[in-house]
Amino acid sequence: MKTDIENRSDIEHLVNSFYSKVKRDEMLAPFFGKVAKINWKQHLPVMYNFWENAVFHTGTYHGNPMEVHRQLSAKKSLSPVHFKRWLELFITTVDDLYGGNNAENIKQRAISIATVMQIKLIS
Ligand code: HEM
Repeated sequence: MKTDIENRSDIEHLVNSFYSKVKRDEMLAPFFGKVAKINWKQHLPVMYNFWENAVFHTGTYHGNPMEVHRQLSAKKSLSPVHFKRWLELFITTVDDLYGGNNAENIKQRAISIATVMQIKLIS
């Protein structure tokens, strides 16, 4: 049995593993590289805060992901295939590392946010 996501350190491990896959992914990597020119040292802690807040309600994230992705999509269109790939990588990463209520919860959060984002950005 895998252990569940218990704390921030587990979130950090999950986020690091996810983005190491994203960086190597042909379809998604260009958004982070060429398009957004991500500074990973700044971006990763934002993502730790976002997911820590999503799972543990820590109040650690105050951004506006919808607006960030709207601006991103204006530079290079985000389409359903991108979201499908993003979710595949996210869900596989969670399942490889963790099992339990929080692991199920974080996958559901990812699916529902991705669904809303697609509706808002693409329709
Ligand atoms: C097609 C799928 C996606 C792509 C290619 C993508 C790409 C990116 C990129 C390039 C950034 C950095 C933008 C910048 O700082 O200029 C970003 C930020 C972010 N993404 Fe995504 N993303 C995707 C889907 C998602 C989904 C489904 C979620 C949530 C479940 C999410 C959550 C976030 C958050 C929280 C940020 C940080 C926003 C902030 O700076 O406050 N992304 N994304």
